[in-house]
Amino acid sequence: MGSTVIKNGTVVTADLTYKADVKIEGEVIVDIGPNLSGDAVIDATGCYIMPGGIDPHTHLEMPFMGTYSTDDFESGTRAALSGGTTMVVDFCLPSPGQSLLEALQMWDNKSGKASADYSFHMAITWWDEQVWREMDEVVKRGITSFKHFMAYKGALMVNDDELFASFQRCADLGALPLVHAENGDVVAAMTAKLLAEGNNGPEAHAYSRPPEVEGEATNRAIMIADMAGVPLYVVHVSSEQAHEAIRRARQKGMRVYGEPLVQHLTLDDSEYANPDWDHAAGRVMSPPFRNKLHQDSLWAGLQSGSLSVVATDHCAFTIAQKRHGIGDFSKIPNGTGGLEDRLAVLWSRGVNTGRLTMNEFVAVTSTNIAKILNLYPKKGAVLVGADADLVVWDPARKKTVSAATQQSAIDYNVFEGFELTGLPRFVLTRGQVAVIENEMHHQSGHGKFVAREAKNPVNQALSQWKDIVAPRKVQRSGIPASGV
Ligand code: URP
Ligand code: ZN
Ligand code: ZN
Ligand code: ZN
Repeated sequence: MGSTVIKNGTVVTADLTYKADVKIEGEVIVDIGPNLSGDAVIDATGCYIMPGGIDPHTHLEMPFMGTYSTDDFESGTRAALSGGTTMVVDFCLPSPGQSLLEALQMWDNKSGKASADYSFHMAITWWDEQVWREMDEVVKRGITSFKHFMAYKGALMVNDDELFASFQRCADLGALPLVHAENGDVVAAMTAKLLAEGNNGPEAHAYSRPPEVEGEATNRAIMIADMAGVPLYVVHVSSEQAHEAIRRARQKGMRVYGEPLVQHLTLDDSEYANPDWDHAAGRVMSPPFRNKLHQDSLWAGLQSGSLSVVATDHCAFTIAQKRHGIGDFSKIPNGTGGLEDRLAVLWSRGVNTGRLTMNEFVAVTSTNIAKILNLYPKKGAVLVGADADLVVWDPARKKTVSAATQQSAIDYNVFEGFELTGLPRFVLTRGQVAVIENEMHHQSGHGKFVAREAKNPVNQALSQWKDIVAPRKVQRSGIPASGV
């Protein structure tokens, strides 16, 4: 087995920055230090050697709103690798009434063509004793996080009793519940009202889901998780109202993680005012883009640590798919792309502006996710024994984002025209060089499913505490005779 050494670079991790060579044998890192030698050399002069990005929130080839998201595990993981993301965590989505295990089989079939490693979250889209039972088997198969939609009424939404039952089951299994936090009842009512008033354009999508619907649902999910004694992960946090709920919970000691998206950090609600219907509809996603005050709040959350992770919620639809919603915004498939550009956009708008340090960048794009999802240090680390999922990052390389040159299979890019400085020079997936600047050397089928263990330390600590404070019957002597 030949070895490879990445030479002349600076290792940047979530907590350290230092000059060192990194040696790889097979799929793993075997040495880190000065003057290493190997059979092949990768030159990292002027570059940073960082853990590959992990995107914890993608929807590849997902059936949704009458169609399928266009990027599948082939184009999606290719797009990911091209931008330095070496692992994705995708959502396995049983249709209401469908067995979780049957849905898992479908996702297993789709993911065989992945060129980067992947894991799954399992969505809880309905509830009964079968779902309760199958959750145990899902965890045994290495899927230890369960997603709940508090929006999409009449389709994927679950109610509070179902949320509480599922969160309690997660607590028992040592799993992590995730929520899409928007009040689906209020969104449905506001949507009907807007449409009745003739407000049917893509901008009305944003009017139908103001920050309050997100803040309310985030608070509700946090309280329900606290009662169930389980940690909570809130996906696509887009507003100060939701962030405030998370911030307050964390100050009280609750184990709540918030995930803003790179789109919400860098694109605002003025996109929906664009006179071009296709442009505005291409930005329709839930929650919608917000104004600058919300964006500032999200950046502050990443800086202070009240928000933990930056994802994309990559759910890419073509313009033709978006046009299903002409005349009725509620039929525009919800979702945007971002997987390919997440790292470079966050670097340009975050590190190059001084909002984030390089180490914070690594933390929020890779290491924190790996820790929360119990993947660390196999993923998210530059350490001996870790998978050689690495990005050699050239802080001087530039590009202007353009759909014409992207790997993603859709026909536009929400970051079109963004001028970026800081891009991958090399990307390695489990030791294989998959990207050299603009050249793709990825291999469809190279990506492997990564199983995860349940009962991480945070789950254990919460269960221990919950047990201590559990309701206990008061033992009494001399009980008075009943009746008067
Ligand atoms: O609009 C979005 N976010 N589409 C993807 C599905 C979801 O809600 O995460
Ligand atoms: Zn969502
Ligand atoms: Zn999503
Ligand atoms: Zn080549």
